[in-house]
Amino acid sequence: MAEYQSKLTDNAADFIWPNDDVFGRIASRYDWLCDLFSFGLHRLWKHRMAQRIAGETWVTLLDGATGTGDIMLRIFSKISDKKKNIIAADISEKMLGVAHRKLMPMPSNVSLVRLDAENMASIPSASIDAYSISLALKICNRHRVLEEALRVLKPGGRLIVLEASNIRYAFIQRLYLVYMSICIPLLGWLMTAGDTSAYKYLLKGIKEFPSAEGLAAEMLNAGFESVEFERLTLGIVAIHVARKPLVGTLHV
Ligand SMILES: C[S@@+](CC[C@H](N)C(=O)[O-])C[C@H]1O[C@@H](n2cnc3c(N)ncnc32)[C@H](O)[C@@H]1O
Repeated sequence: MAEYQSKLTDNAADFIWPNDDVFGRIASRYDWLCDLFSFGLHRLWKHRMAQRIAGETWVTLLDGATGTGDIMLRIFSKISDKKKNIIAADISEKMLGVAHRKLMPMPSNVSLVRLDAENMASIPSASIDAYSISLALKICNRHRVLEEALRVLKPGGRLIVLEASNIRYAFIQRLYLVYMSICIPLLGWLMTAGDTSAYKYLLKGIKEFPSAEGLAAEMLNAGFESVEFERLTLGIVAIHVARKPLVGTLHV
């Protein structure tokens, strides 16, 4: 962690994400906004996600798009093995800056790394026991993220995904989408003081994201096996767990 820490401290204030660092612009308010717009429900989802990750067998965990490190923080209370290594990665250096402040006091091996989940060239193939990603697949190219997850995982390694999903009761799903259509633009306005490009970015993928069954099928198509999922809060989000096959997937 030491190497990254100094880089982070030196450069965080100057860093500009070349595309559109929407999350960087709200990094210091991100956790608060999550509470506000999910009515605190994100805490339950992240608690359950941390439980699922901690329940898998791993020595090295890579958390892609880790954001402010909220889920990694919850994992520390669930693991006692000091030999575990966690790589908490995100594309936004400012989000990593917040994660750094939250995770620094934790007594474990955590590396904070700036990585694009769609292209993690610095992570060797078949080097990771478990790969997790939360609330970010819908804003990334999920096919590329799944491909990269499969590449970096060791055979038999686990993929654990927390993501927005579909409520199975059509009427409630429609109400929820109306809420999101009002809420997300408001969120965008609050975050960016009227920068409308952010609205499009945040809305990207929310409505079109596949159902829990659809995402499970995409994981199978990507080459994973033993895919299972659990819905949380009527299906507003779901946690999918999948395994990289022991044989048959050669990544070089
Ligand atoms: C909605 S936040 C989720 C953060 C965290 N996983 C959580 O559950 O609180 C999405 C995160 O994805 C990051 N992100 C967006 N595109 C990314 C990419 N291509 N690679 C890595 N991180 C990305 C953003 O910087 C942001 O921190």
